[in-house]
Amino acid sequence: MNYKIKNICCIGAGFVGGPSMAVIASKCPNINVTVVDINEKRIEAWNDKNLSNLPIYEPGLDVLIKKCRDKNLFFKTNIEQAIFEADMIFLSVNTPTKQTGVGAGQALDLRWVEASARQISKFSTGNTIVVEKSTLPVRTAETVKSILISNKDSLDKKNMPNSKSFSVLSNPEFLAEGTSINDLENPDRVLIGGDDLKAIEALENIYLNWVEPQKILKTNLWSSELSKLTANAFLAQRISSINSISAICESTGADISDVAEAVGMDNRIGSNFLKAGPGFGGSCFKKDILNLVYLSNYYGLEEVASYWEKILDINNWQQKRISEIIVHKLFGTLSNKCIGILGFAFKANTNDTRESPAINICRDLIEEGAKLKIYDPKVNNLQIDMDLKNACISSNVEYSSDSWLVEDNLYKTANNSDALVVLTEWEEFANINWHEISCIMRSPSWLFDTRGITNKYIAKKNNINIWQVGV
Ligand code: UDX
Ligand code: ADP
Repeated sequence: MNYKIKNICCIGAGFVGGPSMAVIASKCPNINVTVVDINEKRIEAWNDKNLSNLPIYEPGLDVLIKKCRDKNLFFKTNIEQAIFEADMIFLSVNTPTKQTGVGAGQALDLRWVEASARQISKFSTGNTIVVEKSTLPVRTAETVKSILISNKDSLDKKNMPNSKSFSVLSNPEFLAEGTSINDLENPDRVLIGGDDLKAIEALENIYLNWVEPQKILKTNLWSSELSKLTANAFLAQRISSINSISAICESTGADISDVAEAVGMDNRIGSNFLKAGPGFGGSCFKKDILNLVYLSNYYGLEEVASYWEKILDINNWQQKRISEIIVHKLFGTLSNKCIGILGFAFKANTNDTRESPAINICRDLIEEGAKLKIYDPKVNNLQIDMDLKNACISSNVEYSSDSWLVEDNLYKTANNSDALVVLTEWEEFANINWHEISCIMRSPSWLFDTRGITNKYIAKKNNINIWQVGV
């Protein structure tokens, strides 16, 4: 079967669906791309005339939206219509870890994928290519396929006209937030898994508009799905490895940035992803490792499961370790102390706080009785309030209305604080004027730099005590 792709629909207008469809629309002006979501507010924000109100912050995204929106890129809530018109449908809905039932705490919750597959099955027409973009457990394509054809079977049974056919492809997204537009425009590789060669070719032809052919890798469905989990697990493993060494550095007098540089200069190891910090966050790493652990246990591979589980243990330990160091350095108690938190997003250049190490570290400091002042250049105060309330409630940590305050700049945050804790590597925090800041903090003042980005010599010169990760 030959596929002609004129209309693309993407179900899910989030951190993956929004940027990846903006790039496809910008690179393929002859294809109409419609991004749909059940969340009306989110779609409204994508359509906001003021581009600083887009629902996600990503450098360069506003330029693409300005260029393509309402030309060949549309954000809508009418999911049925968009499915009906589409030749190719991307699934970019959320797939969080299951909270209850079989596999709770490890397996992925596929209810949103399933709901979308049912809608596609009902409203699509003709030959539709369904592309999995969300991170999914290995062999999800099978589930998607069986749901897609279930409606077709029921039409067959009723002897109703039935001209639908589906082809399922896996095309995992490797973009990292904060650099997603560049990652999408210049990918290291594009992975397409499937068994329908014509459908694979149709998707490949879209990418060939801007990606060199040798970077497009074609595999079977299961290899593609497993590659995505493995890539994320390997990246997370590097961070836990370097963080474990950061603790050894602190005990021995070695410096983690020297060690990372020396290790990274070995070509076989490479220098990326060797930055020690407060542990990894983001929507993918933890979820994907838990998923790998679940898969390993399911197939009776207990040693494999416990190997990957350790990566998460070290990540949690690093966060706990940092909160304990702060308490210890501030004379063992935080009650009546004010701590300024610099950065709440899980990394710089995003407003995403999912699994941000800041959440657990702040919760631990609140538990110790600290009053927090929190400043992040891009995360809004409602998000911070919601994250901290949820974290305190789920860990039975008592909090009150003055446990934290969200500030809108660095100076208000530092004013009368006993300590500053850098949790996100925003550039602004690398260039702090320590002379000015030291004058407005309470003394003895402390700086806890969990990202190793501040100028410790200048801070020290201004009478600030310093703890930096891995030093
Ligand atoms: C990740 C993968 O990189 C991406 O390919 C996949 O599609 C989704 O998951 P993302 O979570 O957006 O992307 O960001 P990433 O840059 O990978 O950072 C993840 C976490 O690791 C962040 O909390 C970051 O601060 C931390 N990190 C990263 C470090 O602590 N040290 C490093 O050297 C690199
Ligand atoms: P990701 O980081 O994977 O993009 P997000 O949570 O940012 O995850 O985005 C997923 C989006 O998918 C959300 O905006 C959510 O409202 C949307 N979504 C979930 N289920 C459906 C559905 N059945 N139909 C349309 N949109 C959906």
